[in-house]
Amino acid sequence: MGGRFCCVIRLWVVLYLSVNVASQLSSSFYSNSCPNLLQVVREKVKEAVKSETRMAASLLRLHFHDCFVNGCDASLLLDGSDGEKFAGGNLNSARGFDVVDNIKSAVENACNNTVSCADILAIAARDAVLLSGGPSWKVLLGRRDGLVANRSGANSGLPTPLESVPQVLAKFVAVGLNATDLVSLSGGHTIGRARCTTFSHRLFNFSNTDAPDSTVETDYLATLQGLCPQNGDGNVTTSLDTGSIDLFDSNYFKNLLNGKGLLQTDQELFSGDDAVNVTKSIVESYNNSQGLFFKDFAASMIKMGNISPLTGSSGEIRKNCRVVN
Ligand code: HEM
Ligand SMILES: *[C@@H]1O[C@H](CO)[C@@H](O)[C@H](O)[C@H]1NC(C)=O
Ligand SMILES: *[C@@H]1O[C@H](CO)[C@@H](O)[C@H](O)[C@H]1NC(C)=O
Ligand SMILES: *[C@@H]1O[C@H](CO)[C@@H](O)[C@H](O)[C@H]1NC(C)=O
Ligand SMILES: *[C@@H]1O[C@H](CO)[C@@H](O)[C@H](O)[C@H]1NC(C)=O
Ligand SMILES: *[C@@H]1O[C@H](CO)[C@@H](O)[C@H](O)[C@H]1NC(C)=O
Ligand SMILES: *[C@@H]1O[C@H](CO)[C@@H](O)[C@H](O)[C@H]1NC(C)=O
Ligand SMILES: *[C@@H]1O[C@H](CO)[C@@H](O)[C@H](O)[C@H]1NC(C)=O
Repeated sequence: MGGRFCCVIRLWVVLYLSVNVASQLSSSFYSNSCPNLLQVVREKVKEAVKSETRMAASLLRLHFHDCFVNGCDASLLLDGSDGEKFAGGNLNSARGFDVVDNIKSAVENACNNTVSCADILAIAARDAVLLSGGPSWKVLLGRRDGLVANRSGANSGLPTPLESVPQVLAKFVAVGLNATDLVSLSGGHTIGRARCTTFSHRLFNFSNTDAPDSTVETDYLATLQGLCPQNGDGNVTTSLDTGSIDLFDSNYFKNLLNGKGLLQTDQELFSGDDAVNVTKSIVESYNNSQGLFFKDFAASMIKMGNISPLTGSSGEIRKNCRVVN
């Protein structure tokens, strides 16, 4: 009698948990259906970063740009002229799509029709950070792929480098992130490159701005003016973290203290009038402790990865990340 009672209870517990967990992500989601997933992805990311160091940054950014538009659903990866790839923040800018295709085919070889493209982006971003010298974390999995891209959603939802701290923060708050997440995740700019066209408005006296931006350190300003002359090639790139280009560390925050943030939105986290009560002290805390930055970055990446995932039977598992099935 006691034994049967215990089993009935256990059944209820199992049912209760499965109902409640169904809509949540879990680090063990594929442990039965695709036990080698994490190794397969790690190996492919390693290969890609070995052949081009910058690819780590590009992969990290793909996950961010995916999650901010319709949630983390791989909508960014969909081809087509109405796709997110053609939105302002992505056109001639987002890169790494071929690498994602390579990872996806390796994953399909290991476990056919099982793993979503959205989850691949989340794992690849984690691996990219780790392989660049940054922190690691347990990636939560179980996202499914969306059926539509949202170009207008990308145009309105992705932060732009011309915005103020309150404007950028509002876009983070809109997806459930806060000022700590804004600052820690902006630390993603410790790796990667940006084109002149994304920051040259800070360098010269244009009629509609009060450039050169007085927060840019003098020598750095001269260097950037030389690299990005007026009417020059806006596609020329330079490192977002001038001190330790491809290394994932806290030097990005040291740069901000020294007027060497590349993008306006980077520097304003420390120097902007609006930053004082919101982001400045967080920047200082990461300057003082790389350990705190790493801890917060990992927590914020998990939070970002949790933005409106499709789970259960919503969406699909795409066979080809570029098109719906
Ligand atoms: C706070 C708002 C943000 C703004 C305004 C912003 C803006 C930008 C811009 C303008 C670029 C250069 C793009 C180009 O040259 O075409 C860039 C690059 C990059 N961003 Fe952000 N970003 C933001 C937040 C983030 C976040 C949250 C992450 C990830 C956690 C991130 C990761 C990156 C990386 C890794 C690159 C370099 C990509 C590469 O080299 O391919 N950014 N960002
Ligand atoms: C995966 O499964 C599909 C059918 O669902 C099949 O057409 C395809 O050949 C399989 N691919 C591999 C690599 O096994
Ligand atoms: C696109 O994104 C906007 C802004 O988030 C949203 O209001 C809209 O419903 C989305 N459209 C689709 C088709 O997902
Ligand atoms: C942001 O949220 C995290 C929890 O997700 C919390 O620890 C942190 O204190 C929050 N930051 C701010 C500025 O509210
Ligand atoms: C921009 O204009 C200000 C005064 O209007 C001048 O002091 C400064 O040297 C100019 N800077 C550049 C880079 O032309
Ligand atoms: C940058 O390159 C793209 C394609 O490679 C081109 O379409 C675009 O016009 C270039 N942009 C600038 C600012 O030169
Ligand atoms: C910012 O904080 C200071 C105190 O540190 C306060 O006097 C000021 O009113 C605050 N400004 C805003 C815009 O909240
Ligand atoms: C920034 O960090 C450096 C150590 O790397 C320290 O010397 C400096 O005082 C810090 N600055 C601020 C404002 O906390």
